[in-house]
Amino acid sequence: SKGAAMVTAVAQRLAAQRKEIDDTLALFRLGPENLQQVRDKMRVELERGLKKESHSSASVKMLPSFVHRTPDGTERGKFLALDLGGTNFRVLVVKIRNGIRKSVRMYNKIYSIPLEIMQGTGEELFDHIVQCISDFLDYMGMKNTRLPLGFTFSFPCRQTGIDKGSLVSWTKGFKATDCEGHDVVDMLREAVKRRNEFDLDIVAVVNDTVGTMMTCAYEDPKCEIGLIAGTGSNVCYMEDMKNIEMVEGDEGRMCVNTEWGGFGENGCIEDIRTRFDREVDEGSLNSGKQRFEKMTSGMYLGEIVRQILIDLTNRGLLFCGRITEPLKTRGIFETKFLSQIESDRLALLQVRAILQQLGLESTCNDSIIVKEVCGIVARRAAQLCGAGMAAVVDKIRENRGLDHLQITVGVDGTLYKLHPHFSGILKETVKSLAPQCDVEFVLSEDGSGKGAALITAVARGQK
Ligand code: GLC
Repeated sequence: SKGAAMVTAVAQRLAAQRKEIDDTLALFRLGPENLQQVRDKMRVELERGLKKESHSSASVKMLPSFVHRTPDGTERGKFLALDLGGTNFRVLVVKIRNGIRKSVRMYNKIYSIPLEIMQGTGEELFDHIVQCISDFLDYMGMKNTRLPLGFTFSFPCRQTGIDKGSLVSWTKGFKATDCEGHDVVDMLREAVKRRNEFDLDIVAVVNDTVGTMMTCAYEDPKCEIGLIAGTGSNVCYMEDMKNIEMVEGDEGRMCVNTEWGGFGENGCIEDIRTRFDREVDEGSLNSGKQRFEKMTSGMYLGEIVRQILIDLTNRGLLFCGRITEPLKTRGIFETKFLSQIESDRLALLQVRAILQQLGLESTCNDSIIVKEVCGIVARRAAQLCGAGMAAVVDKIRENRGLDHLQITVGVDGTLYKLHPHFSGILKETVKSLAPQCDVEFVLSEDGSGKGAALITAVARGQK
């Protein structure tokens, strides 16, 4: 009959649409061989970053931190800490006590950094920072105390000492002019001088991964790796000095900031990048750079999702084929959104409500598709992080000539903390790709504050 024919036609159309969607999502699916390859390529790049002859061209920069040991619990003192690199700038006072009353207490204030300052001139940026420090010292009644200061600066820095480091290149949302190639401690000191109001005793410049490792190691001596899965993506770990060819000396260890976000800048993971990843890269502040970071971190996952949704909509597979303003808005899908939408307890109606909050009118079917898209993008990110981590832990195991390594990773970052599936997939992936390692992940609360203070204490030898 005519009716039956129509039903069949509709069913066929739906099946064809479903296939188109599945084919798009399949671009993001990584099988065991893909992941093993990522692990092995990451391992090659870690080695290239460490070696003198390949260091300058390596996509994983392997930057020495001049932190030689993790804390042993004897650290004590009162410190100032600065934290620049996320969405906000923070100033903190950190008090560390040792002995039986071993503890860390912190007071902090959060300051926003307006976009025009993040992307203005370097002088403006550092003047703004010093202005915030001034406000904080007034607030705490500490203008005349000169506490040792640790500066957590969460960007790639080429360090030549614990208190010296020049910015290699901005990453994430920053783009202030005249900073790249300049020493960040000098820039801070000069801004303090310009203001001519108070003095600082800058002891250490610290990457957030290193702060995170130190904070976790303060409680757990097996912690020798720091991971950030947040706005950006990065890892540090304790490497043998004899393998760090860029630094004199062969004895003992030093923490290396891998800057693994740059992995793939040499084209070595083009086989798994999709047209959506390229789109996100081209729309970013640092096109061509931080390719791994752009597949694994909070600042970009929502953008990948947005690009897929635009594509599906353009092909008439979503939102009745209508591209609305929110879909055209860069940065609309924050980590918070990806985390909410994937929450398992969420009914479809609630997914629709979340989309509606963003101004996206959806049918039930639309909301199923959006949730699938979010899921596949986050899953790939967690798997890639896991593959990278497998390379790191297995390298440490080999360094130490062990059949089996037990190690702890200190972790921080919104993606890891908020997302309902990210951490689980990450752990599962590490387990299957590094079977000779027993890796424990421990949340590191406020590594950028506490960690900077601990590093300052270790650097000062303050006991
Ligand atoms: C970016 C920065 C890196 C930092 C990471 C996490 O990748 O380049 O230094 O550790 O973000 O904040």
